[in-house]
Amino acid sequence: MARKKKKVKDKLWGGRFREALSDAAEIFTSSVDFDKKLYHHDIIGSIAYSNALMKAHVISQKECKRIIKGLTAILKGIKSGKIQFRTEFEDVHMNIEALLIDMIGDTGKKLHTGRSRNDQVATDLRMYLKDEIAATIPLISKFQATLVELAEKHIKVIMPGYTHLQRAQPVLLSHHLMAYYTMLDRDKERIFETYRRTDVMPLGSGALAGTNFKIDRKFLADVLSFSEISKNSVDAVSDRDFVLDYLSAAAILMMHLSRMCEELVIWSSYEFSFIELSDQYSTGSSIMPQKKNPDVAELIRGKSGRVYGNLMSLLTVMKGLPLAYNRDTQEDKEPLFDTIETVQASLKLMTEMLATAKFNDKEMLDAARKGFLTATDLAFYLVNKGVPFRKAHEIVGKIIAYCEDANMQLDYLSVQELKKFSDRFSFDAQKIISTESSIASKDIYGGTATVRVKEQIKIARKKLTKVKEKE
Ligand code: ARG
Repeated sequence: MARKKKKVKDKLWGGRFREALSDAAEIFTSSVDFDKKLYHHDIIGSIAYSNALMKAHVISQKECKRIIKGLTAILKGIKSGKIQFRTEFEDVHMNIEALLIDMIGDTGKKLHTGRSRNDQVATDLRMYLKDEIAATIPLISKFQATLVELAEKHIKVIMPGYTHLQRAQPVLLSHHLMAYYTMLDRDKERIFETYRRTDVMPLGSGALAGTNFKIDRKFLADVLSFSEISKNSVDAVSDRDFVLDYLSAAAILMMHLSRMCEELVIWSSYEFSFIELSDQYSTGSSIMPQKKNPDVAELIRGKSGRVYGNLMSLLTVMKGLPLAYNRDTQEDKEPLFDTIETVQASLKLMTEMLATAKFNDKEMLDAARKGFLTATDLAFYLVNKGVPFRKAHEIVGKIIAYCEDANMQLDYLSVQELKKFSDRFSFDAQKIISTESSIASKDIYGGTATVRVKEQIKIARKKLTKVKEKE
C-alpha cells in the first residue's frame, strides 16, 4: 500500500488521482522503451520552447538559462549511457521532464507551461522523420548509381525479356536494370513529397486548442528548421497522415525491392544461372553441403511483408479516431521505426549485393537466342512488305509451329523454307530474325536499342550528379 501511495505522487499528472496506476496498466501504457528514440529531438524541441517561453515573458532569462543547461546535461547523460529511462515515467517526454525537475528543481516545472505532450510528440516525430528521410534519400541515390554503373558496364549484354515469365523479346540487361533505376526515381520523388508534408511544425498547438501564452511560433519554426507552421491546432495534434505518407511510400519502395529480389532469386537458380551472388551475400545449408542460398534477397523480399503490415497497422489505428488527440496514436511509433530501419538496411544490402554479383553474359545471350523471341520482329518484317499485321501474326505463328515440330530455332530457317509460308520473304528476312537486329530495331525513345539505353543512362547520370550536389 505504501508503495502505491508513493507512485501517485511520482506522476507528473498525479494531482487529481487518489489511487496509483496498476503495475500492469503502467507497463501497458508506457512507451519509453521505444519512444526513447526521440530523446534528441525532444530535448532540442524543449530548448527552443524554453526560449519561446522567455520571449513570451513566462520565464526569466535566468530561468531559461538554467533549463537549457539542465536539458543539455540530460542530453549528454543519455548519449553517454549514464542516464537510464524509467518505465514509470511513461514516455520519453515525461522522463526528460522528470529528470530536469530532479536536476534543477522548481524552475524545471515551468518548462511545460502552455505546452502539451500532444503538440510535443507530434513535433518530435516530425523532426525525427525529417532527419530519417534525409538519411534515406542518399541511400536510394547510391543504389541507383550502382544500377547505372552496372548498366554501363554490361551495355553489350543481351538477355531474354519476359512477360508471364515466358521468354518474350530480347532486351539489353542494361535496359532491364535501368527499369529498376526508373522505379527508384519515383520512389525518391514520393519520399521527397513526404518530407514536404512532414515539414510543418505543430508546436504551439497545446493539447488541442492552441495556447494561452504568446508563444512565437514563427521563431520556434525557424530554430527547429521547419518550413511551415500548422494552421489548425486540432488537426496538428491529432493527425498522423504524414507518417502514413511515409509508410505508403516505403511500402511501394519495398515492393520494388522485393520484385528485384524475386528476380535475383530466380536468376541465381541453377535453371536460370543468369547471375551468381557473391558469397558475402549468400548463406549455406545446415544439411546440404552443396547449397548456396540467396537468403539476403529472400529476406528483403520477405521484409516487404512487415512494411506493408506497418502501413496497415497505422491505417487501422487511425481510422476510427475522433478529433483531437487519442492515446491510440502512440501506436504510430513502432511501425514507423521498424519501417525506417527495414528500408534503410534493405537499401544498403541491395546496393552491396548487386555491386558484387557476377552476371553470366553467355547464359543470358543463349537464353535470348532460344524460344523464338524474334517472332514479333519477323511479323513486322511482313508488315513492312505490305502484309496486314493480323495476317503476318498468323503466318509467323505457323512458322513457329513448324519450327517446334522440327525442333529448331527461327534462325536456322532458310529463305526457301520461309518462302513456303509467304512469298513476301526474301534474303533480308534472315537478318531480321537475329537477336542483335531485334535489339537494334527498338530504336525509339525509351526502347531497348543500345543507343536508346545509352541515352537514358546519360540522363540518369546527369540527374544523379545533380542530386548528389544537393545532398
Ligand atoms: N506517448 C504519447 C504518444 O506517443 C505522448 C502523448 C501523450 N498525451 C496524452 N494526452 N496522454 O502519443
